[in-house]
Amino acid sequence: MTLTFIGHGYVGLVTACVFADFGNEVYVLGHTPEKIDKLKKGNPIIYEPGLEELLKRNLIAGRIKFTLDYKDCISKSDIIFIAVGTPMSSNGEADLTSVFDVTEKISSHLKNGYTVVACKSTVPVETNDKIRDIINKNITSKKIEFDVASCPEFLREGSAVNDTFNPDRIVIGTDSKRAKDLLLELHKPINGKRITTNIASAEITKYASNAMLATKISFANLFSEFSEKTGADVEAIMTAVGLDKRIGRSFLYPGIGFGGSCLPKDVNALVHITEQHGVDSSLFKSINKINIQARERFIDKVISNVKLGSRICIWGLSFKPNTDDIREAPSIYIIRELLNKGYKLNVYDPVSLDNVKMVFKDKISYFENQYKALKDCAGLCILTEWNQFKEADFKKVKKYLKNVIIFDGRNIYDPRRMKSLGFKYLSVGRSLL
Ligand code: UGA
Repeated sequence: MTLTFIGHGYVGLVTACVFADFGNEVYVLGHTPEKIDKLKKGNPIIYEPGLEELLKRNLIAGRIKFTLDYKDCISKSDIIFIAVGTPMSSNGEADLTSVFDVTEKISSHLKNGYTVVACKSTVPVETNDKIRDIINKNITSKKIEFDVASCPEFLREGSAVNDTFNPDRIVIGTDSKRAKDLLLELHKPINGKRITTNIASAEITKYASNAMLATKISFANLFSEFSEKTGADVEAIMTAVGLDKRIGRSFLYPGIGFGGSCLPKDVNALVHITEQHGVDSSLFKSINKINIQARERFIDKVISNVKLGSRICIWGLSFKPNTDDIREAPSIYIIRELLNKGYKLNVYDPVSLDNVKMVFKDKISYFENQYKALKDCAGLCILTEWNQFKEADFKKVKKYLKNVIIFDGRNIYDPRRMKSLGFKYLSVGRSLL
């Protein structure tokens, strides 16, 4: 089949590469010439394990093409995927400007014949109806036939390629049998349970999935506060709770709250979407509140243990390991607050230093080596659980730190071991161990 993906972020680019790998002819449409030039040369722009190799393989085979021009690709396509961003606007709602903007442009280039316009972007319920209305308003020829479909994406950053080749489920929401059959045909080479449903259900499924994940994380973070106040061990509690097969251990890892471009945005959007439909939004408001409190509790621990004005080292800046993405990363919030309190900061991250430099410029010191970053610091904060921190050289850590205290926002070390090594070790939900 011939496909167009509009948008080349984590969702658009990764899915486009995967469908190209299965032999489809794939166009990826963007609007920034410098980015399209890089993509044409095999530079995926984003850091995502396995993506560069997949992109290069399909470029060499001529199965994937990048363009800035709607004319080049829309009229050739059997299926057009909208995969543009729906960022959080200032009041927390999903900003649909890009979705509607690209829809307008698509509608003036649709071919005489049949096309499916499938939305992969995370959008509030009823958005696909609006996409259909925009196209209907703009098409001029009776020979143009189209259907809309909601095909939400569930890939995670850091494992996006693997998630797309091996999804748990493929959700297809459409009111048209013809569109459903075409989308099922496209997905044939990919395993994973198929859920075919109506458009509203598919649109809501995406928000419900992310809200469930965020709920689990906030649940674990609430119990970490409870554990700190009672001398309990949140990790033991979550392991025991998670062994119940109805619940499961995943996403019950407490820490400094969820970040990234999806969970915070989608929980905030859900507050608005539910309220607009007269549904109680208090669960989603509480999830957000607990998420912020997790970061604030971490900052309070630092302030209570490190003299104001001292220099502190931070290991890990991306919102989670295996990505250079710092959007809504807890680290950004924590750095800002510590700077406001007057601390000086040395920071290290294996891949996201350049992104952080764009935010904090010369307000903090950047290090390419995790141990050198410790020099003259009165404490170490661990904000992302990169593997390389898990087996750190503690002799070096002790040697370089002025004050051997570690604030672990991700519970990567065993408290007893840290105590025996001579560290003051403050982790999450088990500080009294
Ligand atoms: C999330 C979902 O997991 C994907 O299924 C979804 O497709 C994606 O959003 C999206 O909507 O596009 P992602 O944002 O890549 O994926 O990251 P997650 O792995 O969900 O992690 C989000 C945040 O939660 C991270 O900051 C992570 O550190 C935190 N987290 C995760 C915890 O604090 N505890 C946990 O137990 C799990």
